[in-house]
Parts: sequence; structure tokens; C-alpha cells
Amino acid sequence: MCGIVCYVGEKSAKPILIEGLRRLEYRGYDSAGLAVQNGNEISCYREVGKIANLEALVDGKSMEGSTGIAHTRWATHGEPSVKNAHPQRDQEENVYVIHNGIIENYHLLKKQLEKKGITFRSETDSEVLAQLIAFYFDGNLADAVRKTMSQVEGTFGMGVIHRHVPGQIVVARRGSPLIIGVSDEGHFVASDVSAMVRYTNKVVHLQENELATVTADDFSILTASAQQIQRSTETVEWRAEDAELNGFPHFMLKEIYEQAYTIKNAFRGRLEPGEGVPKLGGIMPVWEDLKNCRHMVLVACGTSYYAACVGKYIFEKLTEIDTEVGLASEFRYRKLNFPSNTFVVAISQSGETADTIAAIKEAKRKGARLLGIVNVVGSTISRETDAGIYNHAGPEIGVASTKNFTSQLITLTLLALLLGRHQHLSLTEGIQAIRALEALPDQVRELLGQSSHIEAIAEKYFHCANWLFLGRKYNYPIALEGALKLKEVSYIHAEGYAAGEMKHGPIALINPEMPTVAIIPDDEMHEKMLSNIHEIKSRKGPVIAIATQGDEKVREIADDVIEIPPILDFLTPILSVIPCQLLAYYCAKFLERDIDKPRNLAKSVTVE
Ligand code: F6R
Repeated sequence: MCGIVCYVGEKSAKPILIEGLRRLEYRGYDSAGLAVQNGNEISCYREVGKIANLEALVDGKSMEGSTGIAHTRWATHGEPSVKNAHPQRDQEENVYVIHNGIIENYHLLKKQLEKKGITFRSETDSEVLAQLIAFYFDGNLADAVRKTMSQVEGTFGMGVIHRHVPGQIVVARRGSPLIIGVSDEGHFVASDVSAMVRYTNKVVHLQENELATVTADDFSILTASAQQIQRSTETVEWRAEDAELNGFPHFMLKEIYEQAYTIKNAFRGRLEPGEGVPKLGGIMPVWEDLKNCRHMVLVACGTSYYAACVGKYIFEKLTEIDTEVGLASEFRYRKLNFPSNTFVVAISQSGETADTIAAIKEAKRKGARLLGIVNVVGSTISRETDAGIYNHAGPEIGVASTKNFTSQLITLTLLALLLGRHQHLSLTEGIQAIRALEALPDQVRELLGQSSHIEAIAEKYFHCANWLFLGRKYNYPIALEGALKLKEVSYIHAEGYAAGEMKHGPIALINPEMPTVAIIPDDEMHEKMLSNIHEIKSRKGPVIAIATQGDEKVREIADDVIEIPPILDFLTPILSVIPCQLLAYYCAKFLERDIDKPRNLAKSVTVE
């Protein structure tokens, strides 16, 4: 949500900032802006819409200077407009601020400042930061930012420059991520590493309530109470090319295709086939408690929540742990009462989702131990949890989550298998599961070979305004995820249902214009799913079945069939979700949607 990129160094800031914004655009794309400083001169441009509009605006404009801040916005307070775009300025135009987050007490602060004669020009909460910093400034920018931090409630990742403090950027964080990038050609600060990975892979994570003063040659970190912090750099494993399209028309398609090897990355080096048990170094710090855990809660939002829902079934299959799932956005409003030795597992691609962070903080308060299943290394959730497992899926740029989902299913399976092997699972069962995991990358490749068939199915149905997705047990969450993917990127209305619920209402919708995607692998639910398909066909509803290879019964009745290779029942979701992702992608393509940047959405929801 909102992308921030700052640079101070030897190079010209403008092209670095524009390039950084392009890479952060998936975090928000309703308006953008940048400010570049040269001595006491600051040139600032802002534009509504995508980064391309800002690029066109600044094209040919001389913006000298090697210090600058830039922002791509996902509006919270105030409509997308030039006056509400960032950087926001104080009334004298000395302070320029970019901000990600929400200042909850901005009304009160604004009123207080207005009483002092200060005039506001935007409808944003962020302008109050610029005005307050200007108000407190007495020559020391970091001090003014620190005083401002003590006044504001809410969340922020901010970058600040001041006309009279050239060559210096002050950045601060509370609740919104900020990473300092260190290179020989200067320093970067961004809300995620993809904005700087082209220039450096040496980073320092700013932590809660810290601020940093960053110059071309140095950076220094302070706590909110002005204590100096020494922190050494970490090396990130993401490469610049991971964040490139590499010949694909969209990141979503690229990331769907990457799954053959991202799945492998999720279990690489973690399987001990002879022992039938995975090794998960990241959870060793809590292993003594975890191995005796009898109650587990998986919390997440959106697609990660659907991974949690599959995870619950996998835990029920492989372990003796009583497992429940919780939507992070609802979790903290519940009266939580955990049995002793409960583990709450936060599942998050970004590791920065505000609701998931709030949920684990509440769980910790109530005495639960915390695990994280996270993709972004060093992210807030990875730091706030007692231990965890990384997905190693590489950067996910498409706003609609795809490859990370299948990696989450792998890491959840590894965790369940490890615990199950310490409980009741036999060596044979362990070895069988590991062999099935190892077979997955080739099976995914085989499945992706059907892309043009899936594209043809999408072409047949993309004009239909309403779709239904049905599944049972392990594939019920895949019905939910399939529907979510379709609505997110194509804006087609879709509903995901447990197939057994169909007769309790949604069957009223079935007609020849409403396709149903029925997920029917060859498992214990097969006969029941087949009955559901017959019920739909009797009402002339078209059926697209996702079935196991060679399923003649399904072929006889369904209008279209997408075949998945045979696999253990609890691993079928890893395969069945891929046709759902491709159907969503191709429908969106035929409808000419902006697939990587669907309307109103942004990746990484860092506000509640
Ligand atoms: C859907 C999607 C979102 C995210 C959700 C949680 O395609 O991307 O629903 O899954 O916002 O995000 P993370 O996993 O970063 O916590």
C-alpha cells in the first residue's frame, strides 16, 4: 500500500526515483509524485494515475540534484488528485514529505495547527506531517521528525527533505516498512527492496519507532527517544531479474509459470526422503514446545487465508493437532482464550499486512506462541514471530497473489508433516508424502502445458457476468480462491462455495449463462462432486471441471475438462489452483483488464 523510494548519493536522483516508482507501482497506483533537491532548490511534480503519467509530466523537465523522494499512492484520505498526491508540503514549501500509513489523530493536529495560522491545501492526513515537521524545525531535521513522531497516532513510513538541509533525507517508521539500501553510489530508502535491488542487495531494516538520517556517505539510526542504534547490513537474495517481466506480457502470468520452480524452492534442502520427515531450521528455536503443541490457529487475510483454510485440512490429515483458522481482520475482535501451548501461525506473503500483524500482537498478549509463514525476508511478521518458515518464492509483483499461494501450501504441508511424523504418522506415510512433494514441480510443468486449452475455455466463457466455483474438503478453499482470483483481475462476479452448500441457496442462480467451475479430483469427495455436477447440468448450467487425468465419468458430463495429474488427496489443491489462476488471467486478458494492477487494489495492505 503506497510505495516509497528515496535516494541520496552521487547520481542524478530523477531517473533512479522514476525507476524505483515503476517497481513499486504494484503497491498503489492512483497518483504519484517526486521531489528532487539541488542545494536549496527543490523541484516537485505530482500527477494523477499511473507512474507513466508522472513520467510523461517530468519528461524533458530539468530536475537537477542527487537527493530526492518519491511516492506512488493508494488513496486513504482524500480522492486521487494532484493536490492530494505526495510529496505533501508545509505552507512555506520548505518541508517535503512522502508517507505510507494513516495518521489517526490528524483532525485534531490539523485543528491545532490551523489555530496557529497554518493553512492546509490538501485533504490528506499526510499533510499534517509536513506542517508539524516545519513547525518543530529549528535547524535539525531529525529532531523535528522525532518531535512529530511523538505527536502523531497511527502508522507511518515516511521520507522527509528540507529546503535548508540539502543532501539529507530523514526517514521514520511506525507500522509501515522501510528499508535502507547501502551502495557505493549512495543510499536508498524504500518500502520494499524491489525498488533498489538493481543497485544494491545490502540492506538495513528500519524497525518500529525508529528514524534514520541518510546522506550520500552515511546513515545513522535513532530510536524515538534519541538513542543511537548500530545495525549492520543484511544481504537480500532477490535478484534484479526476479522483478523483470522476462518476456511475459504480465507479472501475473510470469508468476503462474514460475510455480514449477517456486514450489521446488519451498522444499529445496528441507526434505529427508529416507527419514520421511522434513527439516525446518527456522522453527528449531521453538521446537521443544511446538512438538507438544495440541492447538494451532492459522491466521491470515485474502489469498493467504485460503491457504490457511487448506492448511487446516492438511493439519487434520497429518497431525493430531486441533487446528482452527481465523481471518486476521476479525481475529482481534474475538474473545480469545487459548489452551496452554497454543501456536498461532501468521501466514503472509508480504509479512506486512496490518490486520495480520494486529492479530498476532493480540494473540501474543493472550499468551500464544507465534510462528510466521512469510515470503518477504526481514518483514515485520518475520520479526514479530518467535520462529518461522520462509516460502522462498522470490518477489511477487502481480497484485493478485499466485505463486506465493502454492508455496504457502508447501510450507504448511512441511510443517504438518514434520509434526505428524513426531506424532502418529508412519515412516511409510512420511516417505510417500515426500515422494509426492518431489513429483510436484514436473506435474506443475505438465499442467502448464495446458495453458492454451485453458485460454480457449476462458474465451468461451469470459462474457458471462457471474461464475460459481465449487469444491469440497481440500478443494473447498480452492473454490474460494478461484472465485477471488477471477473477480480481482477480471471484475467478473464470482462466488466460491462448498459444493455441499449448493442446494442450500446458490443453485437458484444456475442458468445457461452462469458457468460453474467444479473442482473434482479423484478423491473421497469424487462421487459427491459428481452428483453436484449432475444437478447443475440438469438445470442447463455449463460446467468446467478440474478433474484428475483420465476421469471418464467427468468427461461424459462436463462441458469442458481441465485435467490435473494424479497426486495424494491433500496435495491436490497445489495443482487444482493453477487452472483457476489461468482461467482468471485469460478472462481478464479477453476483457482487456489491467491485469497486474486491478482497479482499487494494491499489494501489501498495510492499513487496517
Ligand atoms: C489476493 C491477494 C490478497 C492477499 C492479502 C494478504 O490475490 O493478493 O488477498 O493475499 O492481502 O496479503 P499477505 O499475504 O501479504 O498478507
